[in-house]
Amino acid sequence: MKTLFFSAKPYEKQFFNHHNTHHNLELEYLDTHLGPHIVNAVDENTFAVCVFVNDRLTPEVIEALAAKGVKVIALRCAGFNNVHLDTARQQGIRVCRVPAYSPEAVAEHAVAMLLTLNRKTHKAYNRVREQNFSLNGLLGFNLYGKTVGVIGTGKIGRAFARIMLGFGCKVLAYDLYPDEGLAQLGVTYAPFETVLQQADILSLHCPLTPDNRYLISENTLGMMKKGVTIINTSRGGLINTKDAIEALKTGKIAYLGIDVYEQEEKLFFHDLSGAIIEDDMIQRLMSFPNVLVTGHQAFLTNEALAQIADTTLSSIAAFAAGETPAADRILV
Ligand code: NAI
Repeated sequence: MKTLFFSAKPYEKQFFNHHNTHHNLELEYLDTHLGPHIVNAVDENTFAVCVFVNDRLTPEVIEALAAKGVKVIALRCAGFNNVHLDTARQQGIRVCRVPAYSPEAVAEHAVAMLLTLNRKTHKAYNRVREQNFSLNGLLGFNLYGKTVGVIGTGKIGRAFARIMLGFGCKVLAYDLYPDEGLAQLGVTYAPFETVLQQADILSLHCPLTPDNRYLISENTLGMMKKGVTIINTSRGGLINTKDAIEALKTGKIAYLGIDVYEQEEKLFFHDLSGAIIEDDMIQRLMSFPNVLVTGHQAFLTNEALAQIADTTLSSIAAFAAGETPAADRILV
């Protein structure tokens, strides 16, 4: 009864192996991502597959897993837009995730991206290494006093909003379910359009769902201030990249920081330094001096990886023992 990992990276294996000393599960790691091409690697001894954000669990893949006798799909992440839950339900496969793992890790990365862009430290770093100490072109702007729009005030959005309040920003937020505690701290909830119209900085912290794909597109960009800064650490599909590129060209978007990208599966988590990248959109994005791209690393802290390993393995162990993990971990 083994657990087969897909998209496994060396930096996470050490955390899983360490936390497995409490569970004694049989763990096997594959570095390839899960998709129709690799489903044959799953054998009849596989109780659970453990997957990450860019593994594709389409109906076809889930049906093939069920035919092999797989009982559990364990997502070692929070988002689950890459899993066809209805098929899992039909096939009798349980699906669990890690609902929370250091939301501060992601919120702090969003802040890091914002501070890099507004003070141009990415340019300064390279410049000083070349012994160029000129300040021309490094003019930034203060965060203090700016209006920050937060879309989605769940665990990560809340952590981000609190940090922004600490910077002396005015924080406006939109969520389908406003958080009373956050409002008491000084965050003002407003309709989505109002947040877009008033924000100097907009940070996305809602999940990607079938309803909010391309939340940021030509139409919504049209409502924003000229010179807006946008940060996305949530999911790439929330932004229409083509429209964002046009808005960068006109100066509508002054700064863009993205840790996620709508076509990231073929790029992120791989070393492509010797390859020719065929995706022209990401190449265009990376050519802008006012765009910062990181490769889905917002979660990558010691604290978050320890929690991911602990939660994932204890959920699998519970299923294996015929028990049910905590309700907030279960999707199916
Ligand atoms: P959460 O479930 O605690 O909060 C999400 C919030 O978004 C909820 O309050 C919900 O009501 C709200 N929401 C849902 N649809 C919305 C919409 N259309 N407009 C406005 N608000 C909406 O989730 P959490 O833990 O805060 O994570 C947020 C997202 O961050 C995840 O779904 C995931 O996509 C992303 N993420 C990214 C990571 C990275 O490394 N870059 C790591 C972890 C999560």
